[in-house]
Amino acid sequence: MITFILNNKLIQTESHPGTTLLDFIRSGESLPGTKIGCREGDCGACTVLEGTFDNNKVKYKSIVACLTPLGNAQGKHIVTIEGINMKELSPVQNALVDYAGTQCGFCTPGFVMSLTGHSLSEESSDKEKAIAAISGNICRCTGYKSIEKAAESISELLKVKDINDPINWLVENQHLPMYFLEIAKRLNKIEKNDKPGNFKIIGGGTDLMVQKPEEIAETDIELFYNRIDLKGIKKENNSIIIGSATNASEIVKSSIMQEYFPEIKSHFKLISSEPIRNMGTIAGNFVNASPIGDLSIFLLALNAIINIRESNNTRKVLLKNFFLDYKKINLNPGEYIESVIIPVPDQKFLFNFEKVSKRTHLDIASVNSAIYLRINDDIIKDCSVSAGGVSAIPKYLSNTSEYLIGKKITVETIVKTNKIIQDEISPISDVRGSAEYKRLLLRQLFFAHFIKLFPKSISLKKLLS
Ligand SMILES: Cc1cc2nc3c(=O)[nH]c(=O)nc-3n(C[C@H](O)[C@H](O)[C@H](O)COP(=O)(O)OP(=O)(O)OC[C@H]3O[C@@H](n4cnc5c(N)ncnc54)[C@H](O)[C@@H]3O)c2cc1C
Ligand code: FES
Ligand code: FES
Repeated sequence: MITFILNNKLIQTESHPGTTLLDFIRSGESLPGTKIGCREGDCGACTVLEGTFDNNKVKYKSIVACLTPLGNAQGKHIVTIEGINMKELSPVQNALVDYAGTQCGFCTPGFVMSLTGHSLSEESSDKEKAIAAISGNICRCTGYKSIEKAAESISELLKVKDINDPINWLVENQHLPMYFLEIAKRLNKIEKNDKPGNFKIIGGGTDLMVQKPEEIAETDIELFYNRIDLKGIKKENNSIIIGSATNASEIVKSSIMQEYFPEIKSHFKLISSEPIRNMGTIAGNFVNASPIGDLSIFLLALNAIINIRESNNTRKVLLKNFFLDYKKINLNPGEYIESVIIPVPDQKFLFNFEKVSKRTHLDIASVNSAIYLRINDDIIKDCSVSAGGVSAIPKYLSNTSEYLIGKKITVETIVKTNKIIQDEISPISDVRGSAEYKRLLLRQLFFAHFIKLFPKSISLKKLLS
């Protein structure tokens, strides 16, 4: 039995946990406001809000209903466009009307829900954040400027929002209907229902629900998305430990991650879109083993270790030894990833992540790369470089990393290292570009690491001269 609150209604259903939330909402509950566009997480027409009871509060975020297994809604408050209706239009709805941000209207419920999710966040609002909130929404008609203006006007209204208690403020100011005030109490009564089994694991579903939605709707599945024991980020001695069901948004918002990786917000902005980051887990990124998986590339350069579990046994594997061949990984049947460990030294280190894709946002990489450097007296003491899209697996560049250790950071070192890189990679030509183009891209990304990290001494002009 799956139990959750849909808008203002308690749902108790025996439907298969692998059916999509989108189909349940539209066909099961006859709520057609949530639209079906791509069914692949790309267009945002099916955006809804997911509220989670946490510390006596409900925290909301946007998700795409087309990739959400119904079972992931257990214990949550799911809000569709119908669930924010009041007598009058909400300020978000009004803004889209006032700034002519809607034409055919197909995409509009998705935009409204993303902007309502932004209103509900416990962060102050500004224009950039409001526009980032709609990074997962596509519109075929309006040309975006009018929608961006609507988003900007909402961020102005939200300047005086109480970030400690956004729900109360939003209800008081008629952004949300009254019933939102009772949701925390109602969610608290619903069982969490995280039953471990030995079935096909689903995290956020952002990979599996694209690849095999029909199969998932019929097989026995095990839902990791809400497993509290597999969530969260903590620091222990010289390690950061990330639970395997932690999603990309939780990673980027973590104060621990922000302390060690000050640029993480701009790095993660390049990864998918806000709703996909709100859903996709770190383990899902490793296990789908895409050669361009962004979290895999990020963590490879940090020499991450993964904790693998099977009932009471655990084993540790270096992430660089986890990827065996194209889509082949070091994970046996019955095993699952429990957590990821990032070793962090006491000494200061530098880190950078770069990604090139056909579109800047909401696109997978053509080539991506990360670098970790520890430097003393101008000499590289420790170094790890990773690259995606240039081999059958997310690649740890071991020869490159080794070569750089003991070297001084100079233009000559960087240019010479590119030769090692080119020998270490084996890109193939595909829809994301020819093998030659990917070689060139990786050279540029490798140069970009040094240009970003050493802006005073390294420039593209010097590297190319
Ligand atoms: C529109 C869109 C854009 C995307 N953009 C990007 C992008 O820019 N960069 C990028 O890297 N990826 C991107 N992705 C891919 C995807 O979002 C990520 O790979 C995500 O991290 C997958 O995590 P998940 O929890 O949703 O995986 P799921 O679909 O839930 O699972 C993926 C695989 O992992 C397994 N699994 C999950 N958790 C565990 C565990 N704890 N132990 C063992 N096995 C487990 C599942 O069984 C399954 O085989 C995008 C996807 C979509 C739909
Ligand atoms: S239908 Fe396009 S994102 Fe869900
Ligand atoms: S208004 Fe038509 S798709 Fe956006």
